[in-house]
Amino acid sequence: MRILITGGGGREHALAVKLAENSRVERIFCAPGNGATAIMDKCENIEASDIESLAEFAFSHSIDLTIPGAEDLLVQGIVDLFESKNLPIFGPHKEAAQLEGSKSFAKDFMKKYGIRTAEYETFTSAIKALSYLEHAQIPIVVKADGLAAGKGVIICQSRDEAVKAVHNIMINNCFGEAGSSVVLEEYLEGYEASILSVFDGNTITPFISAKDHKKIGEGETGLNTGGMGVIAPNPYVTESVYEDFLKNISDRTVVGLKAENLIFSGIIFFGLMITEKGVYLLEYNLRMGDPETQAVLPLLESDLLDIIEKAGKGHLSMDDLKWSGNCSCAVVQASGGYPLSYEKGYEIRGIEKDQLVYISGAQFSEGKLITSGGRVLTVVGTAQTAEEAKKEAYRLMDKITFKDQYYRKDIGTIE
Ligand code: AMP
Ligand code: GLY
Repeated sequence: MRILITGGGGREHALAVKLAENSRVERIFCAPGNGATAIMDKCENIEASDIESLAEFAFSHSIDLTIPGAEDLLVQGIVDLFESKNLPIFGPHKEAAQLEGSKSFAKDFMKKYGIRTAEYETFTSAIKALSYLEHAQIPIVVKADGLAAGKGVIICQSRDEAVKAVHNIMINNCFGEAGSSVVLEEYLEGYEASILSVFDGNTITPFISAKDHKKIGEGETGLNTGGMGVIAPNPYVTESVYEDFLKNISDRTVVGLKAENLIFSGIIFFGLMITEKGVYLLEYNLRMGDPETQAVLPLLESDLLDIIEKAGKGHLSMDDLKWSGNCSCAVVQASGGYPLSYEKGYEIRGIEKDQLVYISGAQFSEGKLITSGGRVLTVVGTAQTAEEAKKEAYRLMDKITFKDQYYRKDIGTIE
């Protein structure tokens, strides 16, 4: 089989590693890929980036399966385009991708199908949003409706902050078109959890849970990032939390997807908040998480290609997903200064063969891995307990060095 993966982060590297384990997989093309996929066995990087040129590539290179890594191409309709050309692809159609691409679409869907979520109001007029804020409960969460590279959610601790956020989004257009409407949402307190799952058009089959650490600083302080580390399973996802998730979120999502005819085979990633009042759905993503994927895939014993193929036929069940029973800890190493400005072009040393190290922001040049992005790599430890997995991740991390490197030392510490 010949597989095409779009994207170039640690998530895509982890997907390529897992898929390459299958002996039926002959070649994996990554568009654009990174310094690791450039040199991995069976793997090759290509330049195509827009959905039309990716479709041309898939056609001319007889690609048997395409897996979009990130959300942007899904929202642009890569799945609809590929299907119109009979090119097999794993992911949601453009309309279903709106569950990630538009917060108001997602919230209206949740409300319509009784999926437990924070109270909210959507506004297309800044004046109405500002007048609503005069009497709204504080803290409040201000969300740009569209995709804003993970920056469109602002937690406001005061009315002034909320007014400023609405101004920036709707009047100053700081996120462009993505901010032409806003969702103002009830603030929820609790513990966050990520549950990835596969939707096969009939049922949702969840993966083991994960816990992302989104802030740049230790003790969850400072700016938001794409994710600085993950542990899996998530210690807060107890059996009763999981039951609550199935009953009030996942099962109702299936009902909604079918009723709205949003049928596809692909990933649904649930961003959850576990509160005293039960589990709430903060958001859907319609693709794997980064760095959740790097933490979760090493614990999956079943073959990923088999899972995707079964989902494509609408026959996936829990029995198809075997987990090792271990825990994992994934720690992201970033360029100093990230998520603001940072230097790049530094050589990475200390990565040894057969270690669970996934590259995101690095290119391969003249026999060396050279940093090229904010989040540079993810190191993963796996072990029987979370504590040992964490030790293993940091033992590996201590050996990997580049100039100005930064990583959090508290990934896996439970608050
Ligand atoms: P989202 O892009 O919707 O996942 O939001 C990004 C982050 O903002 C989440 O991971 C949460 O940490 C936080 N967040 C989003 N919505 C809420 C909410 N209603 N209450 C509290 N925190 C939230
Ligand atoms: N780690 C969160 C995300 O991938 O959106």
